[in-house]
Amino acid sequence: MEETTLNDLTQKYSKGAIAIHWLTTILILVLFPLGKYMEDLSPADKMGLIRIHIILGIIVFVLTIVRTYLFFKAPRPEDIKTGSKFNDKLAVWIHNAFYFLLFGIALSGIGSMILGGYGEAMQMGDPESILPHGDVPPLAAHGAMATIMMLLLILHVAGVIKHYLMKKENTLRRMF
Ligand code: HEM
Repeated sequence: MEETTLNDLTQKYSKGAIAIHWLTTILILVLFPLGKYMEDLSPADKMGLIRIHIILGIIVFVLTIVRTYLFFKAPRPEDIKTGSKFNDKLAVWIHNAFYFLLFGIALSGIGSMILGGYGEAMQMGDPESILPHGDVPPLAAHGAMATIMMLLLILHVAGVIKHYLMKKENTLRRMF
């Protein structure tokens, strides 16, 4: 496919940022359905899955901290130009929102773990310590932010596809 010169696609993100981008994508695509699936299980049935969810979630948290460091310290390619001022801003806004949401989701997850008795349940191997969802305020925020993030993820992917179709530019080249 012939390419236009709206953006310089030879500019790439740093190797670390690229690795974290894809690793986080995979982990989020596991964590979200896992979280939703666990919701309806009894505490005794979900103990093992919660352990996996917490470990993978903490990995995402650590990766997000490193990614935030790279955001400020590693060279970054220029923001994509789409030909529309609104879409230019929307893309940057969505990228930035991912950082805030990932921090919010991780911190509310850790809050839920502590306040919801999950930590104790894991340590003692006792599912009885887990409180009902309604008694764990950060869990509602955790679920809401995770859902918003998945909606933004759909927009993020739609943006890449739309740009490819309309402008004939494969912006993914900057992410490999
Ligand atoms: C990007 C990372 C994460 C995503 C996408 C995610 C997603 C979710 C979702 C969708 C739910 C169901 C919430 C609901 O709608 O009620 C959930 C539940 C939960 N998450 Fe996460 N989560 C992430 C990270 C974490 C972290 C870092 C922790 C803790 C260290 C954590 C702890 C929990 C706990 C304790 C539950 C409740 C499980 C239950 O009792 O059913 N999550 N998560």
